Amino acid sequence: MLDAGRTEETLLEVNNIEVIYNHVILVLKGVSLSVPKGGITALLGGNGAGKTTTLKAISNLLHSERGEVTKGSILYRGERVQDLGPSDLVKTGVIQVMEGRHCFEHLTVEENLLTGAYTRDDGKAAIQADLDMVYSYFPRLKERRKSQAGYTSGGEQQMTAIGRALMSRPETILLDEPSMGLAPQLVEQIFQIVKSVNENEGVTFLLAEQNTNVALRYAHYGYILESGRIVMDGPAAELRENPDVKEFYLGMSEEGRKSFRDVRSYRRRKRWLS
Ligand SMILES: Nc1ncnc2c1ncn2[C@@H]1O[C@H](COP(=O)(O)OP(=O)(O)O)[C@@H](O)[C@H]1O
Ligand SMILES: [Mg+2]
Repeated sequence: MLDAGRTEETLLEVNNIEVIYNHVILVLKGVSLSVPKGGITALLGGNGAGKTTTLKAISNLLHSERGEVTKGSILYRGERVQDLGPSDLVKTGVIQVMEGRHCFEHLTVEENLLTGAYTRDDGKAAIQADLDMVYSYFPRLKERRKSQAGYTSGGEQQMTAIGRALMSRPETILLDEPSMGLAPQLVEQIFQIVKSVNENEGVTFLLAEQNTNVALRYAHYGYILESGRIVMDGPAAELRENPDVKEFYLGMSEEGRKSFRDVRSYRRRKRWLS
């Protein structure tokens, strides 16, 4: 699994993309990454690094933000996807769980889950079976299925958002910042569930996270994004042991978190790291 990127099929390929907001603000400056089938790939980086922009570029959600991919290409199974609408993308097998766990607040938890099945035409029985599958991963959602989503906790809303994505029977889930605003124990629980969905259902994940520590414990491969550029990538186990990652992202530095780019020696060291 660790060398999945080299030996297995690549599902998603982002090639050197540039994203500009409002015609002038260059936010992604040539980002490339690839997501192997069956893996959990983490896109790491601090606030404002460009993680959400990258995920939105993949699922073609930048237009409403006045953003545009101005260079590069995004391929899924070798086909260009950056011009597909969201529901065509879902039919291709890719679904995004947005940052901030958007639920329909006035609908119940179960109604929210069922909205995830809207692109399917395989009948009620199959959809009911998947609802049971979602409840088996999230027993808490079963207990809360009749509650109005707006009145459930942040953790339950994150579970609902992931559960709704699963209801579309995706091949790949783009998961944006699942840990945001949640207590550490709950974050761990959500990542555990992501891991079992990955292992048992074979769902591929690309997850964006500021919480490098937890993400690198569950992902197989990681990319570190800083100011719109990938500054390092590698198998998660290697990144966890990398002295620069430890210092800058795992909070093991005495001086607190710094940027790779703040350190003059970084470029020199990086040459023999990669
Ligand atoms: N709609 C927008 N218009 C202009 N700038 C934006 C917009 N959305 C995000 N940005 C800028 O793009 C950069 C990357 O943001 P984002 O992709 O949200 O980062 P992350 O998800 O890593 O926190 C930030 O500097 C942010 O201010
Ligand atoms: Mg973000």
